[in-house]
Amino acid sequence: MTNEQLEQLLSELSLEEKLGQLTQCEASFFIENAGLAATGPESAIGLKPEDLKLMGSVLNCVGAENCIKLQREFMENHPHHIPLIMMDDVIHGYRTQYPIPLALACAFDDELTEECARMASHEAALEGVHVTFAPMVDISRDARWGRCMESCGEDTTLTKRLGAAMVRGFVGDGGENTVGSCVKHFCAYGAPEAGRDYNNVELSERTLRQTYLPGYKAALDAGAHWIMPSFNSIGHLPMTGNSYILKDILRGEWGFKGAAISDYNAFREIQWHGAAETMKDVAEIPRHCGVDMEMMSGTTILHSKELLAEGRITMEEIDTSVRRILQEKNALGLFENPFRFANADAAADYIMSDANKALALRAAEESAVLLKNDGALLPFKKDIKKLALIGPFAAEKGIKGFWSCVGVDEETVSVYEGIKALLPDTEILLDAGCSYDLLNTTPIDVLTANAKKAAAIAKEADAVLLCIGEYQNYSGEGNSRAEIRLPLPQRILAQEVLSENPDAAVLLFGGRPQDISDFEPLTRAILYMWQPGTMGGTAAAHLVFGDAVPCGKLSMTFPRSVGQVPIYYAHQTTGRAIKDPDIPGMPHPFTSRYMDMPVSPLYAFGHGLSYTTFEYGPVTLNTDTLTEDGSITATATVKNTGNVTAKESVQFYVRDLIGSVARPVKELKDFKKITLAPGEEKTVSFTVKEEDLRYWDKDLQYVSDAGAFHAFIGPDSDTQNYAGFVLKK
Ligand code: GLC
Repeated sequence: MTNEQLEQLLSELSLEEKLGQLTQCEASFFIENAGLAATGPESAIGLKPEDLKLMGSVLNCVGAENCIKLQREFMENHPHHIPLIMMDDVIHGYRTQYPIPLALACAFDDELTEECARMASHEAALEGVHVTFAPMVDISRDARWGRCMESCGEDTTLTKRLGAAMVRGFVGDGGENTVGSCVKHFCAYGAPEAGRDYNNVELSERTLRQTYLPGYKAALDAGAHWIMPSFNSIGHLPMTGNSYILKDILRGEWGFKGAAISDYNAFREIQWHGAAETMKDVAEIPRHCGVDMEMMSGTTILHSKELLAEGRITMEEIDTSVRRILQEKNALGLFENPFRFANADAAADYIMSDANKALALRAAEESAVLLKNDGALLPFKKDIKKLALIGPFAAEKGIKGFWSCVGVDEETVSVYEGIKALLPDTEILLDAGCSYDLLNTTPIDVLTANAKKAAAIAKEADAVLLCIGEYQNYSGEGNSRAEIRLPLPQRILAQEVLSENPDAAVLLFGGRPQDISDFEPLTRAILYMWQPGTMGGTAAAHLVFGDAVPCGKLSMTFPRSVGQVPIYYAHQTTGRAIKDPDIPGMPHPFTSRYMDMPVSPLYAFGHGLSYTTFEYGPVTLNTDTLTEDGSITATATVKNTGNVTAKESVQFYVRDLIGSVARPVKELKDFKKITLAPGEEKTVSFTVKEEDLRYWDKDLQYVSDAGAFHAFIGPDSDTQNYAGFVLKK
């Protein structure tokens, strides 16, 4: 449709039709059981059947046939036959699940991330999805927050790069079997006070701009046409009604022309925040902020007529939003082809294909992080006769992750199944030992007896694999935790098994960094599988027995204790930095320390071991003086000093030693993933320009300062391998 035709259509619409375009409800309002479970508080939103006939969009319509049927019937009944836009949460896979985004971020791999999003987009498009509510690029530095599983972790550069890669994967060239992208949750949803989902956020504008906003901007620049304001308030102002961020920054500074859709019921929640008195106020406030579509609440339909009559909103505001929605439908070609790529037969052929599962497998292998491997306990030898497979995740199929769209546990490979397939002749002694339940109701003596029974089988085995962690539905939306340790039953089990056999390796599952201090000292090896998706068990088998070599690097810092949270590597020095290595007690009574624990994390951002070892050469610079229009190339050699071919994500950090405000001790600026054969050495180079050194200064100007900098190249954020340079202006 041409712009003129769109304007003509807009001019013909009744007010009721316009208000309908600005509303999204669940598919289940139209087709019984057509959609996924509700992802919000309630499904009754006070609309009448005649309102539903004018809807602009539905969410969670599942299956090509349902989408085609719904679209056909809907358009026949719509006065101007305007197609619905079908939106869904395709976060880490549509049906074939790859690892949760926090895990996939550990692969530090733009291409792999894009490839996974591409596959998900293809499966979703064939099943009738037009737009996915992804990527989620909320910076996450608080492991108590359940939705960190959905993010790319704590770092701005990693989030920018991988969020943009996901958008490229989803949107592609806008052609065959692609979907649109709605970046979320705008903004800073990942910094709720106390780590509690939906809680308020208190950030300085400097931190907001320096750390939290770039990820959303990168996703929009990569081609996302939609954005979703977040549930949280910032500085006491609910984001769905935050004019400064939604209009001045998003539409003004960034020039965003696409559509904004609220989160689920978030219009009504402005009143629940206590920032609006009536439902009329609730319908008014977002309208002034450029939030175009209202998800799963009906205030726009129910109250806009009065607001117009009272002059509290204008028809121009309504038309501006309706125009954006029509433009986005037009951009997807829905007026010419309202069913887009929905095709049940093609979906049946393509979905869960061997190629898709192979990609999910590779992603799961490259997302796993080898946290510890003393004395190269892993990989186990494949010729073992007996393996003791212990723990609630030994045969558990619920390891695909929280936001798994239409993925099902039945199609997920468990660790037991993965190992059985790899080593059919090995006898596997299986004992869950305990449940994964978070809240324990079993008497401790029963837990201990079960743990001892499970530990006993470890005696008979040639190797022991302890599979423990956090269940997939104990992270994700609404699932924040005040304690991030293993639940008591698993702590008892780990104690018994690892005391019985300190050569037992731990396979850890979960959707967040966890406090593993209860058992970490007792084991020689810990491989963090996260929630690895459909092929998780196969990936685990390949990694444990050496058919795959771990190369994941932590996308989020692992604390020693929840008491350290939020914790992240790009921290400030403070005026009282710890001078000596972290030691408990009172080394310096007046420094920024804990009396009872080191301030350092258990494992740093970027940490991850391999089955080989790597040696980094010193950082060399082609010049130690950077001019405003010049660049510096930082180089280091990386050598594989072990005996297996392996991948390494080489990280490039910069430190601005002096700013007009306090600057972080390091900031990731780039990363490159290389493969090295045993003994092979490669030179890895990174370029830095003046623009890479800009920050929000004391006057909130985005500038760089002349002065001294350090350029680091290393295997993780703890690296001290750097060379100094100066920026001259
Ligand atoms: C949920 C989530 C959001 C999701 C939406 C639709 O509450 O906050 O991420 O896209 O509702 O399911």
